[in-house]
Amino acid sequence: MPSLRQLLASTLGCAAAVTATGINDFSCQSDHNPVVLLHGLGATYYEDLNFLQYWLQKEGYCTYSQTYGAYDGFPFVGGLKPINESAPEIAAYIKEVTEKTGKDKVDLVGHSEGAFQSLYVPKFEGVAHLVDKIAAIAPPTHATSFAGLYKLAYLFGNSTREAVGDVLHALGCGACDDLGLDGAAVERLNDGKPIVQEGNKVTIIASKYDELVTPPTTSFVHEDGVQNWWIQDTCPFDPVGHIGEAYDLNVWNLVKNVLDETPDRKFVCLIGSPGK
Ligand SMILES: *[C@@H]1O[C@H](CO)[C@@H](O)[C@H](O)[C@H]1NC(C)=O
Ligand SMILES: *[C@@H]1O[C@H](CO)[C@@H](O)[C@H](O)[C@H]1NC(C)=O
Repeated sequence: MPSLRQLLASTLGCAAAVTATGINDFSCQSDHNPVVLLHGLGATYYEDLNFLQYWLQKEGYCTYSQTYGAYDGFPFVGGLKPINESAPEIAAYIKEVTEKTGKDKVDLVGHSEGAFQSLYVPKFEGVAHLVDKIAAIAPPTHATSFAGLYKLAYLFGNSTREAVGDVLHALGCGACDDLGLDGAAVERLNDGKPIVQEGNKVTIIASKYDELVTPPTTSFVHEDGVQNWWIQDTCPFDPVGHIGEAYDLNVWNLVKNVLDETPDRKFVCLIGSPGK
């Protein structure tokens, strides 16, 4: 993974992503809603969706993200706390972004656990009225049958890896327990009441070749008005897997189509993907 990250950094020309300017700027002006990005398990705001965030910024969106679900003393590994402990942090951040930008609503873009949270937080944390569009990339909506969720933390997490090992050893991974089969958060999200809240426009984006959120159909939400997209419906030759979804220009273009409400806008699909 570090080599993937370095490869991406050099490909995208932003080696020092963390210090690049533009993101999390509350004075940023755009006709679009502010976009709040939610990273995956074991990741941080500057690892996982960071390249998408810079790309969206270049496309004219004002983008915001912060690390959620990290334990005190382990700020480099987010998303490990139980879903219901991270959710209020995310809700507070959504409120903060609307207040500081002066906009009525935000759009949410989440990946993996962050995508799950993009559905969970509006349903349970009283912020649905502050959310307009939701682009959820590979949420384990109905749980993932992949048993090694801890692996996700290692794949996304701090590139030194030791930080991940330390925090998993000391505090475990509540989110991992929550998102597997019979996970508490999965059961709560699927409690029989609608997942999608009034006024929210939800699009699920999933890859047929996702190897970690399995089976990949688990992501889809079968409720009125929800758009469920396979990446391969638009880009048949994109073999992207779970981690690569965050770094895949085809996925980024699909996200843009969600944010612009132009689901049929055509773009040139890149063949291949930057990583599984
Ligand atoms: C939060 O979820 C965990 C399971 O991950 C559960 O044990 C706990 O009771 C929940 N807490 C609240 C306040 O719902
Ligand atoms: C990774 O974690 C270590 C602490 O274990 C920290 O010093 C380092 O800055 C972190 N690296 C990144 C890229 O976050």
